[in-house]
Amino acid sequence: MADDVQTPKLRGALRGIPVYKAGKIPDTSAFKLSSNENPYPPLPGVLAAVQKSAESFNRYPDMGVAALTAELAEHFGVPAEHIATGTGSVGVAQQLLQATSGPGDEVIYAWRSFEAYPIITQISGATSIKVPLTPDEHHDLDAMAAAVTDRTRLIFVCNPNNPTGVAISKDDLVRFLDRVPSDVLVVIDEAYREFVRDDSSPDGLELYRDRPNVAVLRTFSKAYGLAGLRIGFAVAHEPVAAALRQTAVPFGVNSLAQVAAIESLRAEKPLLERCEALVQERTRVIEGLRAQGWTVPESQANFVWLRLGERTVEFAAMAEVSGIVVRPFAGEGVRVTIGEVEANDILLRVAGEFRE
Ligand SMILES: Cc1ncc(COP(=O)(O)O)c(C=O)c1O
Repeated sequence: MADDVQTPKLRGALRGIPVYKAGKIPDTSAFKLSSNENPYPPLPGVLAAVQKSAESFNRYPDMGVAALTAELAEHFGVPAEHIATGTGSVGVAQQLLQATSGPGDEVIYAWRSFEAYPIITQISGATSIKVPLTPDEHHDLDAMAAAVTDRTRLIFVCNPNNPTGVAISKDDLVRFLDRVPSDVLVVIDEAYREFVRDDSSPDGLELYRDRPNVAVLRTFSKAYGLAGLRIGFAVAHEPVAAALRQTAVPFGVNSLAQVAAIESLRAEKPLLERCEALVQERTRVIEGLRAQGWTVPESQANFVWLRLGERTVEFAAMAEVSGIVVRPFAGEGVRVTIGEVEANDILLRVAGEFRE
């Protein structure tokens, strides 16, 4: 090869993009509490429907995702035209950026929050404006509203927030939405909605109805246990929903995911019972940790947050040796998914020993 051969020119925006650290996969028999997955295996009916559908995966899926979209519209009482599906809600979030933001534009979100936000923002070419959480782990909505400029195109509001689990109250969110200009899209990311038990926290689907600049993100990965099939959706007014259809990867939502999502909506009762069991485990874990003297934010999601600062990595290592893989954010804290009862017991044991 000649010396002057150059590598293909890539976009400068890709330089220095933070790497998405997927929850570590345990290499032993350890419990994986690092990705906020649902510990329950697929429901038999959902699995059977997927297996049946797998018999014809030589065919492309329905590109318009019509059957699932109709089912979602009926289920949530929204017009079908307001629904856009994608490869996980992170895929839909990326489409929202493609549809709204590019070089010179600004995207606001709280920090720390879902670690995909900085990555997908940078890929779009836009600039991240990270607004620190308050000392008690809440979104600083006043500071976020004050950060809006004429370059702002999109604001992510993660409710409840990943990784802290803290939920925003309806009053606070409404006050914030009232301050955001109507030409800025606010995306309420409700990946953990089904685990929320705090009645003061709003259902984004109620807030979006009379606000054309609000989009709601939901996923089948968490409460519905379909993380491996990659399907999520947004509910948004036109023209946002239409823009999501324009930016969709053709045939991106595969046929198994479509079938599984439909079957899951029909099996909502047993799935929500599982969520309730996880919520009860969350209460047990939080109470147990607090009894040991830990400060634990009031999580409304399927995980808990321990702000360990400089001792974060040490805690994660000790947890792993004890049989649970948690998610460390070095220098900040660990996020631990609520998993199997046995796994949660290990967390409580490790946390107790760590304090001694
Ligand atoms: C806040 C938040 N939004 C979105 C997602 C993406 O989920 P998925 O792409 O599996 O729908 C996650 C996953 O961890 C999350 O925590």
